[in-house]
Amino acid sequence: MKIQIINGPNLNLLGVREPSIYGQSTFEDYLKTLRSRYPEVQIDYFQSNVEGEMINKLQEVGFEADGIILNAGAYTHTSVALHDAIRSITTPVVEVHISNVHAREAFRHQSMISAACKGVILGFGMDSYRLALEALLALKQ
Ligand code: DQA
Repeated sequence: MKIQIINGPNLNLLGVREPSIYGQSTFEDYLKTLRSRYPEVQIDYFQSNVEGEMINKLQEVGFEADGIILNAGAYTHTSVALHDAIRSITTPVVEVHISNVHAREAFRHQSMISAACKGVILGFGMDSYRLALEALLALKQ
């Protein structure tokens, strides 16, 4: 199993950025825990603050990875281009958010990408990524 995690803008600052919303842990630390919990799964990680680089990564892995876990950050709420990229590939994509975006500002209530994704997991903190991984593993069984 090969799973690609793609994190979008400002998620390189996890652990530092608004810890009351996003927690104290860096993504690198969380990734170590996730990888040790799923040693049989190859978990690749990519982060970019640049929308086009996220699209390039989706296109690069989107015909051969078994699943993609995508936290598009604020591009979730704005990006038709990410929606189109997800629709253009064959690998299933799970949209993930650390926070419950529906309990936050109104501008976070709309997702431009949900309709193109296999499913959405949000609001469980960093554990949202593990739940998405479980969902992708279940799809393969
Ligand atoms: C986020 C929610 C988005 O609204 C926000 O712009 C982020 C992080 C989350 O994981 O909760 O950057 O995707």
